[in-house]
Amino acid sequence: MATALGRHLALVGFMGAGKTTKGREVAARLGRPFVDLDREVEAQSGTSIEVMFAHGEQVFRDAEERAAAKVLRAPEPAVVALGGGAVLSAATRAELERHLTVLVDIDVDAAWERVRKSGRPLARNEREFRMLYEARRPVYEQVVDARAADVDGIVLAAGGVHVETGAFAQLAALVPGEGRVSLVTDRHVAGIYGAEAQLAIGGRLASEHELPSGEEAKRLAVAARLWDELAVDRTGTVVALGGGCVTDVAGFAAATHLRGVAWVAVPTTLVGQVDAAIGGKTGLDTGTGKNRVGAFHWPARTVIDPGLLQTLPAEERRAGMAELVKTGLLAGEALWELPDAELVRRAAAFKTAVCLRDPTEQGERAILNLGHTFGHALEAASGYEIRHGDAVALGLTAALELSERRYGLDPDWRARVRELLDPQPVAVDRDAARGALVRDKKAVDGRPRLVLLEAPGRPVVTDEVPLDEVHAALDALVTG
Ligand SMILES: NC(=O)c1ccc[n+]([C@@H]2O[C@H](COP(=O)([O-])OP(=O)(O)OC[C@H]3O[C@@H](n4cnc5c(N)ncnc54)[C@H](O)[C@@H]3O)[C@@H](O)[C@H]2O)c1
Repeated sequence: MATALGRHLALVGFMGAGKTTKGREVAARLGRPFVDLDREVEAQSGTSIEVMFAHGEQVFRDAEERAAAKVLRAPEPAVVALGGGAVLSAATRAELERHLTVLVDIDVDAAWERVRKSGRPLARNEREFRMLYEARRPVYEQVVDARAADVDGIVLAAGGVHVETGAFAQLAALVPGEGRVSLVTDRHVAGIYGAEAQLAIGGRLASEHELPSGEEAKRLAVAARLWDELAVDRTGTVVALGGGCVTDVAGFAAATHLRGVAWVAVPTTLVGQVDAAIGGKTGLDTGTGKNRVGAFHWPARTVIDPGLLQTLPAEERRAGMAELVKTGLLAGEALWELPDAELVRRAAAFKTAVCLRDPTEQGERAILNLGHTFGHALEAASGYEIRHGDAVALGLTAALELSERRYGLDPDWRARVRELLDPQPVAVDRDAARGALVRDKKAVDGRPRLVLLEAPGRPVVTDEVPLDEVHAALDALVTG
């Protein structure tokens, strides 16, 4: 598995790459402890690195190897920044095999600029520094699972999420392992990207499966057909190419086929790229509602190619914008103003961090439901006739209005959301919507659990809003 779930996230790379600064920030975003191996070496030996070097580099390397073994064997998953030369040790390289190792990339000129005045023992002579850089590169290549240059990039790598325009064409290299591959897609996406996908997967392709498009795919009968027809054994991988409906059902089939096989998500909608394909929630709809059956099954990798959005119809893009606006409000930034490739990357990194902090939704992952409690109630009351994206857009305005009343949120945010998403009240039965709100999966003793904002970037989860206030906010979303 190409993720840091349940294991250490080790950062390697040349001096000056910013492993310590970035590592500390990544650890805060993932809710993990941060360990700087250099400081650990000093703490364990009771001597400074400079003094160890004065006795010869090997004195330092031996102490570093001992400290690395201790840190990498500690049970609590942490973010560990290793010194630039720590991977020279074969023992440390062997330890790293059990963890996710990310190369924090920097080019040699930038590295030299950053460290030339630092007084570090190995950064005193530019020619030697450059030679060392060249000598170390192949050693890093031996141990790394992924490369990243900034904090978002490291967070994405930790979740096994690869975001790159053009990544679709490199699918064969991005599907972990060497086993056979079953490709699952929907009819519509198969017509646009099927041939390219076959080519990209190449010789590992064992079977292809076309599902109906849209929610029709998320039925038990469709999953059952996949259980019968998937041509992968437990060494194989299911590759799901499509929107959230395809990744939800194919991920569920992968979670349950042979008691669980690996899967790779290749989202092709904006909803999929910023939300559905990240974080391991898979599921089906049943007679009692949407997503009533499912499993947490984290993809071995999520391959996001923003270039695939070029063929997305405008109404599907609009549906994705609602999820993107939600993410921007939670992150506290107008992500929707960024160009496609950047907004996808930023939003994907935000969701990845939240899900890594809480992979099975025991707590704070609930913030991702901003706007969704109202949205789900409207969808249910309409018999799932209205689009999820439209329902979420309405739900966001209700959550923002309550946030203004309870926490004094600046009303300008609601105005911006309205302008961007233009949500229109829907004709559904009010009582049915109210009923759905208290029957929501996440309601507590009949009280809807809402996500509100104290401020952009500061979500709160509460079940303490009086029911009449909740009803008034819901009623404002309904016409007739
Ligand atoms: N698992 C999760 O965490 C999670 C999160 C959010 C949403 N979801 C689920 O996702 C589903 C909605 O996903 P969606 O909005 O992606 O819908 P979708 O999968 O139905 O795709 C929408 C439509 O766009 C077409 N399409 C897909 N990619 C295309 C492309 N690149 N070019 C042209 N057409 C394309 C599809 O064929 C389909 O007709 C819902 O069922 C929702 O419950 C799951």
